[in-house]
Amino acid sequence: MINKLESALVSFKSEIASLVKQADVLNLKAKYLGKQGEISEILKSLKDATVEEKKLIGPKANEIKDTILKLVDETLANIELNEINEKLQANRIDISLTDDMLEKKNVHGGFHPRTLIRQEVEDIFLSMGFEVLDGPHIETEFYNFEALNIPGDHPARDMQDTFWFRDESSPEGNKHLLRTHTSTIQIRGMMDRKPPFKFIAPGTVFRCERTDASHEMVFQQLEGMMVGENISVSNLIYFMKQTLKEIFKRDVEVRLRPGFFPFVEPGFELDIRCQVCAGKGCSVCKQVGWVELLPCGMVHPNVLRAGGVDPEKYNGFAFGLGLDRLVMMKYGIEDIRHLQSGDLRFNSQFKEY
Ligand code: DAH
Repeated sequence: MINKLESALVSFKSEIASLVKQADVLNLKAKYLGKQGEISEILKSLKDATVEEKKLIGPKANEIKDTILKLVDETLANIELNEINEKLQANRIDISLTDDMLEKKNVHGGFHPRTLIRQEVEDIFLSMGFEVLDGPHIETEFYNFEALNIPGDHPARDMQDTFWFRDESSPEGNKHLLRTHTSTIQIRGMMDRKPPFKFIAPGTVFRCERTDASHEMVFQQLEGMMVGENISVSNLIYFMKQTLKEIFKRDVEVRLRPGFFPFVEPGFELDIRCQVCAGKGCSVCKQVGWVELLPCGMVHPNVLRAGGVDPEKYNGFAFGLGLDRLVMMKYGIEDIRHLQSGDLRFNSQFKEY
C-alpha cells in the first residue's frame, strides 16, 4: 500500500509540473485528494490492514497528503505571480522612450494651438522690449474691479458675469472671485515697478457665460500695458498693428471704433477683418465680416493712481487681446468650444513643436 501511495505521489508530481491554469491545478487536487480521489481510494483498503500496518501507513498517508497540498499551494501561487507579471509586461509604459524611437513609431506630441499662439505673441512683445508677467486666477474684488475704476455700484460690473466665491468673512470690497479679465495684472504690474515700463500678461480668465461658437466660460486673454511720459494713441495703434502684422505674417485690415471700458479714456474697440471667411460672413464673425479682437485705450488717471503712478506726470495705454479669438483666426477654427474640448482629433492637428 505504501508503494501505491508513493507511486501516486510520483505521478501527481509529474502531472502538476505541466499545469499553467489554476482551474487545472484544482481539478488535479480533487483527482488525488477528493472523496473518490486516488489517495482516498488507496486508503479505503486500509480497513483490511493489520494494526501494525495501519501504524505505518497512517503517518505515511498524511505525509503524502501534506506534500500534495503544499505542492498545490505553491503551484497556485506561482501561476498567480506569472499572471501578474504577464499583465505588468503587457501594460508596461516605457518612460525611457526617446524622441527618435517615438518618431519611428510615428507617435508625436505637440503643443495646443493656444500655447503656440501665446508663445508667438510673447516672442513678438519680448522683441519690442515688453516684460511678460503672470498673476493669480483667484483674485479679490479690488484688483478685478475697484482698482480698475469699477466701483461696486458701477453698471459696468454687469458687463462681466462673474464667478464669486462665498467668503462671508472677508471685509466689504475684498470678496474673492475668479478673475474675469487679465486687466487685474495692470494694477499688480504698476504697483511693483516705476515708470517707464511696458509689459504683457497672458492668462486664463473666467466668465459665467452662456457658451456658443464664439463664447466660452474659460478662455485666454493677453493684457498689455505701456506707461511712461507723453504716450499717445498713435503709440498704441503702432504697437497693435505691428503685432497683428507679425502674427498673421501679412497686413491685416483693422478698424478702430470708440469703445467704453471704465479703466481707459478714451477707449477703443479694434476689429480685424475675419480671417476665417475673409470678410464674407461666418459663425465666427456672426456674419458681419469683422471680429472684435482688441479692446484698448489710454489708461484712466484713476487706474494709474490705484497702481501708485502719478497721472500728472505719466500716462499710458492698455489693451486686452482675446487670445482664443486670435487662435481661431490664425488657424481658421470655426467654434471656440473646440479649444477646451480636449478632443485629440482636434488637438493632434497641431503638430508643431
Ligand atoms: N478687460 C477687458 C475685458 O476683458 C478688456 C480690455 C479693454 C482690456 C480695454 C484693456 C483695455 O486693457 O484697455 O473685457
